[in-house]
Amino acid sequence: MGLTGKVKVPGDKSMTHRAFLFGGIAEGTTVITNALEGADCLASLHAVEALGAKVERTGETIAVTGTDVLQSAAIDCGNSGTTIRLLTGILAGGEATYELTGDASLQKRPMDRVTIPLGQLGAQIEGRYAPLRIEGKPLIGTTYTLPVASAQVKSAVLLAGVFATGETTVIEPILSRDHTERMLPQFGVDVVIEDFEDGRHIRVKGPARLAATTVDIPGDPSSAAFWWTAAALGEDSVITTEHVLMNPTRTGFLQVLRQMGASVQISNRKEVAGEEVADVTVESTSLQAVTIEGEQIPSLIDEIPLLALLATQADGTTTIRDAAELRVKETDRIETVVASLRQLGAKIEATADGMIIEGPTPLTAGTVDSAGDHRLAMMLTIAATLNEEIDVIGSEVVEVSYPTFYDDLKKLEANHT
Ligand code: S3P
Repeated sequence: MGLTGKVKVPGDKSMTHRAFLFGGIAEGTTVITNALEGADCLASLHAVEALGAKVERTGETIAVTGTDVLQSAAIDCGNSGTTIRLLTGILAGGEATYELTGDASLQKRPMDRVTIPLGQLGAQIEGRYAPLRIEGKPLIGTTYTLPVASAQVKSAVLLAGVFATGETTVIEPILSRDHTERMLPQFGVDVVIEDFEDGRHIRVKGPARLAATTVDIPGDPSSAAFWWTAAALGEDSVITTEHVLMNPTRTGFLQVLRQMGASVQISNRKEVAGEEVADVTVESTSLQAVTIEGEQIPSLIDEIPLLALLATQADGTTTIRDAAELRVKETDRIETVVASLRQLGAKIEATADGMIIEGPTPLTAGTVDSAGDHRLAMMLTIAATLNEEIDVIGSEVVEVSYPTFYDDLKKLEANHT
């Protein structure tokens, strides 16, 4: 079965989280268009409401009026690592006591990666895993070098830095997605970015109050990647995704797709709210194996399940390494990707920090489980477009990041003749 047509994927998840959270603490009313209303981002929206922000919806826009006092609250962050980690940074310098928790998956994900650096600013946080108990304290700026490439950790420290007295600098030896440092200036906060030999230095000076703004959110490249994969693999398939975010810290997947030999056309480039957006058209082709490693990993981390699927159909041995971070995502994505694709006949092996895949191998019939992981559910659904005897169970978790995924799939199937 092939897929054909145009699709406008929902707003970027990382940018929506930040627009909701920053709007929630800014002075005035922030108006957000094309926000992603998936469960993860709604957890951030509900969180700022619980802290005292006001939320109003009018048609396609969401207006968030920020609160100047972060009132005491118990917040359920659901499945969302971005919500809990960024909020921990925001609340560390608050005036009250806060409790943050989440679902069974979130409770297993490491939080000491944020509580340790925040402790350096003077934060008082109990718990290495959710639930976390945060006692708001006056904070003092610091300098922190990221031990793992993580935008969530970088953002938590910078946000605490906005509330702290003095300068806070995050040093990142390997670049991670940069939406926080791009969006904070839109909310009136000065951010200084300088490149040195030991990495990029990102500095904020506090205490500062955010000022409301308008945010128009482009389409999520991590959601578009499902269609790019379907197009690269499907028979006579051509898919165009419109108005997708082309931020260079997010487009590693497209570079690898090209390297594998897929036809990728980028058109209609423009700038929206300090970010480049474009339409991307991918067409089916024969694919070659690749090695994916090192500094490119953070720019495609959420797309690795799809790269594994592509590799099962590519000629040769694909190696993915330096991706141990996959073990602490919504599931251990090295284990869940390898186990599920193996169940479908793929020649794929797990390693400590990645996987090795031999292709091409036709995928065989089978029933595979999402393991409660939204990206796994969608990757396996794309695999099922290659063999209609593949069944995916637990697919309702797409709600987390792409609630309209199955509607878009139906449209693209219907267009294909
Ligand atoms: C995100 C950062 C990444 C990514 C996650 C969203 C963000 O996580 O995997 O889906 O919005 O900052 P890490 O920062 O932990 O690598």
